[in-house]
Amino acid sequence: MNSKINEIKKLESPPKIIKNIFSKDEIKKFLELYKKLPTTVHNKKQNVIKKRWLHGYDKDLEQIFCDRLKNEIGEFKMDNLKDDDGKDILGLIQESYAPIGLHVDGGFEINNKIYKQSLIPLSSVGSTVIFKNRYYGGSTSFTQDPEELNKKNLSYGQNKRSDIHLKMYGEKKFDEKIHKKYLNHEKIDNLKGLEVELIYEWEVGSMLIFDRTHLHCSSSVIEGKKIGIATFTKK
Ligand SMILES: [Fe+2]
Repeated sequence: MNSKINEIKKLESPPKIIKNIFSKDEIKKFLELYKKLPTTVHNKKQNVIKKRWLHGYDKDLEQIFCDRLKNEIGEFKMDNLKDDDGKDILGLIQESYAPIGLHVDGGFEINNKIYKQSLIPLSSVGSTVIFKNRYYGGSTSFTQDPEELNKKNLSYGQNKRSDIHLKMYGEKKFDEKIHKKYLNHEKIDNLKGLEVELIYEWEVGSMLIFDRTHLHCSSSVIEGKKIGIATFTKK
């Protein structure tokens, strides 16, 4: 577990949706940026394309994003993986055709004072489910799948796999209605003890900000593909 857990807890606050924080023109620029950036991962099996938001492709947009975020969360540092040259990146842009499972984005430096993460939708159909439950042990995908749990040789930037969540939040069965409507890509048993804090319905121009200690996943509601930008901060 993170040794700065008490300091991290002091920084925690409810998730926040900021509507109309980006104009149509700015969203267009994000999409142009996405097109220009080189592909980092194209996982054909999961049908997902990941790109790192590298510095220098659109400096104005970098400034706009950092200013707006600072306006909402105050001072922060980016907490991102380095690129191949050791330079900071601003975030990850992901284009996916299938929902992402339960996880936490606590980072890869175990003792960082992790802070908020943001999500900017660039496509309109989609939602993200934020659970009340929190985890203080770094970036982890929570699963019961034995094959997944056996994956130990993870490369830089890959989440650990764990089923520890099943022992952490109690035995209460997850809400069946919510499961059916939003989370049918997850086995309901894998959501045992979890409670929903917020379901963020994607709306282009808005941004979601939430604590990096929240368990979350995408909902199963996808029409074709969805594209979103995730960024991660620390103090
Ligand atoms: Fe995430």
